[in-house]
Amino acid sequence: MRILLIPGDGIGQEVVLAAARVLGRLGLDISFDEAPAGFDCFQACGEALPSRTLELARGASAVLFGACASPLGEVAGYASPILALRRELRLFANLRPIQSLPGPFSRPGIDLLIVRENSEGLYSGRERREGDTAVAERVITREASERIARVACEQALRRASQRASPATLTVVHKANVLRVSDGLFRQSVLAVARQYPELRLTELLIDTAAMRLVQSPESFDVMVTTNLFGDILSDEASALIGGLGVAPSANLGEGTPVFEPVHGAAPDIAGRGIANPVGAMLSGVMVLEHFGEGASASKLRWAIRATLESGISTPDLGGSAGTEEFTQAVCRSLAG
Ligand code: IPM
Ligand code: MN
Repeated sequence: MRILLIPGDGIGQEVVLAAARVLGRLGLDISFDEAPAGFDCFQACGEALPSRTLELARGASAVLFGACASPLGEVAGYASPILALRRELRLFANLRPIQSLPGPFSRPGIDLLIVRENSEGLYSGRERREGDTAVAERVITREASERIARVACEQALRRASQRASPATLTVVHKANVLRVSDGLFRQSVLAVARQYPELRLTELLIDTAAMRLVQSPESFDVMVTTNLFGDILSDEASALIGGLGVAPSANLGEGTPVFEPVHGAAPDIAGRGIANPVGAMLSGVMVLEHFGEGASASKLRWAIRATLESGISTPDLGGSAGTEEFTQAVCRSLAG
């Protein structure tokens, strides 16, 4: 397996190297390569996603991406490298699992998966100014909606088979207001989901879903939604299990899959050695699962959980360990 590390900006550097270290301890045939991308890279060489990095990504089995800074305003010539990777590699599905962790920072009983459409919606890039009016086009296509629906249904069945209980798919939208765009999303997803009779199918409006996620997160299994709703819901859901530092994700589609922690570059703590590597390490677990290395994936997941259970955690989780100390503890668990 050839993994390309793209640490990117800020704490991306710290957490990706920590994840690579624990992946390297599993005795698997993994080779690592590293390539630059991000805002620092843009400032240094004029490109946020150098063509060489993209070429290496295309040739790798998987990419482990750290984080990239996303400036609030427009910066001439800069475009988010993670959005570019998703587009270039046609990674239309973003899987964001949220599972309870051992520790007082996490609520118990949660095991859900947010399946986020990754290619269109409000991320269409069609945004413009018309004088003092700004317009963003929210593009929804039947093709992309059916495609993400199939991914969500397959994931729901796969999860159900692992735990031998029925699969539930919740379709999340705002079709009461966005009658045309989310009307099409809703209709397309429901039509696909009805082809899977073993699925329990429900739907929720995004505002209700956001509330229920706080109220009774344990009642959710798989949720499927459009791009921006999935972006927001996944940050919200991460807060139930300790925050952005612990949430992993996988971008899947046609090209090389890209795995990344859900968090950003966190410039406020970058370089201080206190970044939480759990989200990046669990993204490593997702890499292993994706390539059928189930035993190694379980071993690494167990080592991460055992470390947290022993009370070792980074300051965002209320602990006092640094990235290095946490990583060493996971390595010890793997060895023991
Ligand atoms: C995420 C991030 C990205 C997104 C940003 C960095 C462009 O927030 O992966 O959730 O909005 O998709
Ligand atoms: Mn996000």
